[in-house]
Amino acid sequence: MFITLEGPEGSGKTSVILKLAERLRQEGFEVLTTREPGGTDIGDEVRAVIMDLKHKDRMSTRSEILLFQASRAQLVEEVIHPALNEGKVVLCDRYADSTLAYQGYGHEIDLHVLRQIIEFATGGLQPDLTLFLDISVEEGLQRRGDDGGWNRMDDYEQAFHQRVYKGYMELIREEPQRWEIVLATQSPDQVAAQVEHIVVNFLKKHKRKIAKS
Ligand code: TYD
Repeated sequence: MFITLEGPEGSGKTSVILKLAERLRQEGFEVLTTREPGGTDIGDEVRAVIMDLKHKDRMSTRSEILLFQASRAQLVEEVIHPALNEGKVVLCDRYADSTLAYQGYGHEIDLHVLRQIIEFATGGLQPDLTLFLDISVEEGLQRRGDDGGWNRMDDYEQAFHQRVYKGYMELIREEPQRWEIVLATQSPDQVAAQVEHIVVNFLKKHKRKIAKS
């Protein structure tokens, strides 16, 4: 089973994934956690290029899109597919929906083109379940503190992040059966408990389906 976590900045995905992995291991599942961009040696190098602040104002959106896909292609082939073939549950912090939300809705790049590039990069691998950690853009960015803080952003950046959030809502509307929304403004323990409940039930239901067939 391939499970991804999505959400705006500061939604707390990273700590949720760690707690979720621990709980699933207690339940007897073999779990692999990974993240995007990165998750492989090559992907981590690509991540460093994407994140490097000295490229911030120079990197073209197209170039950025392709770098995200390069990292993703490597991750799918080197890590995700082998783990799924071994029967592991794969938990990934961001995946293709981030490209659709950030580059598609955020940077307003043609979604149809993006879907084709994603298809090429992933060979069509889609998540079985995606959790959306829901927090308003303002609150998420404020949680991040001064560097990514909402109040420090100019109008363009604020509007970008609002489009990303709306984009996620659109993606969820298009494919509601794949998504589960968790309110990320609850206490960290409540968020973890809700996420664990959703995922454990999902995996058990799937196991029962396999046992029956
Ligand atoms: P990261 O530091 O991992 O942030 P977060 O903790 O919010 O996941 O940085 C990832 C950034 O890259 C984040 O701003 C989202 C962005 N991103 C894209 O724009 N497109 C993509 O396809 C992916 C995977 C990430």
